[in-house]
Amino acid sequence: MDIETPALVVDLDRLQANVDHMAGLVSARGLGLRPHAKTHKCLEIAEMQLRAGASGLTVATLSEAQVFVSAGFTDLLVAYPVYPVGAKAERLRRLLDSAHLRVGVDNEAGAAAIAAAAPGRDVQVVLEVDSGQHRTGVLPPEVVQLARMCDSLGLSVVGVFTHGGHSYKDPAATHGAAQDEGAALAEACDSLRAAGFDIAVVSAGSTPTTGAERPAQLTEERPGSYVFYDRQQLALGACTSDQLTLSVAATVVSVHGDRFVVDAGSKALAADRPDWLQGHGWVPALGADATVVTLSEHHGIVTGAAAQPAVGDVVHVVPNHVCTVVNLFDEYVVVRAGEVVDRWPVAARGRNV
Ligand SMILES: Cc1ncc(COP(=O)(O)O)c(C=O)c1O
Repeated sequence: MDIETPALVVDLDRLQANVDHMAGLVSARGLGLRPHAKTHKCLEIAEMQLRAGASGLTVATLSEAQVFVSAGFTDLLVAYPVYPVGAKAERLRRLLDSAHLRVGVDNEAGAAAIAAAAPGRDVQVVLEVDSGQHRTGVLPPEVVQLARMCDSLGLSVVGVFTHGGHSYKDPAATHGAAQDEGAALAEACDSLRAAGFDIAVVSAGSTPTTGAERPAQLTEERPGSYVFYDRQQLALGACTSDQLTLSVAATVVSVHGDRFVVDAGSKALAADRPDWLQGHGWVPALGADATVVTLSEHHGIVTGAAAQPAVGDVVHVVPNHVCTVVNLFDEYVVVRAGEVVDRWPVAARGRNV
């Protein structure tokens, strides 16, 4: 494989298998699938997801939404407490003109800014519920109050969403987080319906919790990382090693005793690392313990290899967290059976505003 390193390498067959597997899992439960596109930021992968049955996409930012809408992906949920003022308000208005866009709300100031950004429009909002991650979202007993406030501002409350991000707290947390997501959404949905709101969207989402038993109220799942999985997902038990789809190809540039150095540092592998995971990446071809133990910007130091490579060898590093890694590259090198078959732009790279 003749590629310049560091490079973002995606295995096409594994990618297709992951996309198909998740689509099958979610549809077998009678749910819709709205994958989070912040993971891949790529039009070609979004297309694969829709072809496999996804109803639309989730995004985190308005600028991600703009990239996908310009390419014809017009059914989007911005699963984030959007606060659109200034240029962001103008961008939201334009998006509402050209797409079926629903936006997240978890507070009055955000709701008021959305209403002010799009006066006279029927803006559909989805209320964020905190199911235990304690990041954003209101607690289920507070959701009716938030809905009434949105209603008074002229916004249409069409649903609720949550992200069970506490599934990442440690490898034993997944089951509880999945139950928390379901319970919080069921409670929020029931109380909103009892208060007279017409709730069409009840949306849960994280890769580790997708596929869990869900309450009858749930309508859709929003996993993102499942397209590639990563070292963190493997450690959580959310995937098997043959589902790992994305690697950073890196060249060995220096070898010293029992350690070697590759040309992928924090600017290629990103520095995300949960407390419970040692190191910044794994080199599967060099054994179970071949770990990137230290990063500088352009250096990754690897120890624990079953055999030392030579300077010039190319190794494939499975990163800890794919979403932040993808945002560091301009393109994917797409491979099949070890051969480069395509290159896809990371079209929404850096679209974080
Ligand atoms: C709001 C929201 N929904 C869905 C997801 C997708 O979760 P995962 O990366 O576990 O697939 C995320 C990820 O951070 C998120 O923040």
